Amino acid sequence: MTNQTKYETHEHDVLIIGAGGAGLRAAIEGLAAGARVAVVSKSLLGKAHTVMAEGGIAAAMANVDKADSWRTHFRDTMRGGKLMNNWRMAQLHAQEAPERVRELEQWGALFDRTSDGDILQRAFGGHTFKRLCHVGDRTGLEMIRTLQDRGVQMGFDVFMECTIIRLLTDGKRVVGAFGYWREQGRFVVLKAKAVVMATGGIGKAWRVTSNSWEYTGDGMALAYDAGAELLDMEFVQFHPTGMVWPPGVQGILVTEAVRGEGGILRNKEGQRFMEKYDPKRMELSTRDVVARSIYTEVREGRGSEHGGAYLDISHKPAEYVKQKLPSMYHQFKELADVDITKGPMEVGPTCHYMMGGIKVEAETAASSLPGLFAAGEAAAGLHGANRLGGNSLSDLLVFGRRAGLGAAAYASKAPAASIDDAQIAEAERDMLAPFDRGEGENPYTVHRDLQEVMQNLVGIFRVEEDMTKAMGELEKLKARAARVRVEGSRLFNPGWHLSKDLKSMLTVSEAVTRSAMARKESRGAHSRIDFPKLDEQVWGRQHNLITRDGAGMKLQQIPVDAIPGELNELLADEK
Ligand code: FUM
Repeated sequence: MTNQTKYETHEHDVLIIGAGGAGLRAAIEGLAAGARVAVVSKSLLGKAHTVMAEGGIAAAMANVDKADSWRTHFRDTMRGGKLMNNWRMAQLHAQEAPERVRELEQWGALFDRTSDGDILQRAFGGHTFKRLCHVGDRTGLEMIRTLQDRGVQMGFDVFMECTIIRLLTDGKRVVGAFGYWREQGRFVVLKAKAVVMATGGIGKAWRVTSNSWEYTGDGMALAYDAGAELLDMEFVQFHPTGMVWPPGVQGILVTEAVRGEGGILRNKEGQRFMEKYDPKRMELSTRDVVARSIYTEVREGRGSEHGGAYLDISHKPAEYVKQKLPSMYHQFKELADVDITKGPMEVGPTCHYMMGGIKVEAETAASSLPGLFAAGEAAAGLHGANRLGGNSLSDLLVFGRRAGLGAAAYASKAPAASIDDAQIAEAERDMLAPFDRGEGENPYTVHRDLQEVMQNLVGIFRVEEDMTKAMGELEKLKARAARVRVEGSRLFNPGWHLSKDLKSMLTVSEAVTRSAMARKESRGAHSRIDFPKLDEQVWGRQHNLITRDGAGMKLQQIPVDAIPGELNELLADEK
């Protein structure tokens, strides 16, 4: 152990990996608590999947529906998550979301308004009341802009276009991270007393996804490699509405706000098919139900021209559509040459969000590995088996703040970090190996094949036979990924970057597949053709937990926590 390495080195109290909503909110809170904070982002500051939560932030403000309350929000969240949620996270989330929204407004976020001047709220799937505070269909973007302005003004250090490739530990706790600058390929050591993982999701392991290139499961894989626990990795959300045509834009998100504002889904025969699947909630059923319904219509031959469903909002006045859904209007006009004020869009399911992830403690967002915290999509627990739309933005605010507080408090008591040079040398060797191979495959072909495996064998509907095949394919892909070769130099070399991202995607894909094979029931976003029912006696009582066991992956089950008195009564109907 030394305190010196040959690499460029920086030292902070709290290091935040990921600069989306959760990372930025954690940074603000860490700074407010007096910690020296750095935010490291693989991408550019402000370019985060947070902006893909377009339709709004869920918070029981009761501005539009006066009967709303945190209790109803809690119940809706637990109901949507099929009771696999961490009840305490769901309670804190529902109770604290309104305050976090008001705070965001004080920091400069410009929300749409009711005629009384309150923050306007709209309907979304699975929410009993109109609950989503929004800015047209650009809510995530407004949130990122606001948090970024606030954080930069408060003074965190920013490391942009810098990828973390290993968490550094002293054997017992996390003491920093090792990474490289994407532009130059130079290595960098970031020492810290506490680290917050806020790296988002894993969508890039599937072919059709709303996620952009950054979302390769890095945070979950880094945490797992360092010894943290991953929870309920089988719960992957397919958003019902992504673009399906033209092929180059397949998967790009079509916000749920289209349905929230009255959009209607039809099949090629003109039938409003949600009548069959959820006659009560129709298009505003939960995402798992709507995604499966569209998928079923397509599979049974009633899909749209390019293999999706028709989503129509053109019965509303054109000016209303342009005002409420300006991004959707432009997105379809520019990318698909479709005027959504005049005719329907074609939409289909797209891999959007990971409910599973790093297991954390509700109050502080601490993981099982001392010094490591996690928030947002990288963390598991709040959403259970299926997330309600709009709960991701409130999650980022509530638990981003708690992670910042937790990490700063931990750092204030932790001794200075000591770095293990052997860990750095090993990470450097692994990272540079693809340049040294005389022959080997291109990382892009391995990535393409991985996406096909996950898309076709571990998708919306799952069955033992497919997943067994997927496990075999993942083994072969791991072997191929270990032999990839990259050409050129370390100067901005995307193939080289992908060679590392591939390992993360393979780790999380294996965790998803193992967990999905183990859960022999259908619950929320996890649908088994061979086990189509909920199994309350066995699987309603247990979570899947993944840990590293030497070079292998260990899967075990842990009990679901009992929900205490008053909260349990709120869920009486569910049970
Ligand atoms: O459809 C949407 O606007 C996405 C929202 C979310 O994922 O929370």
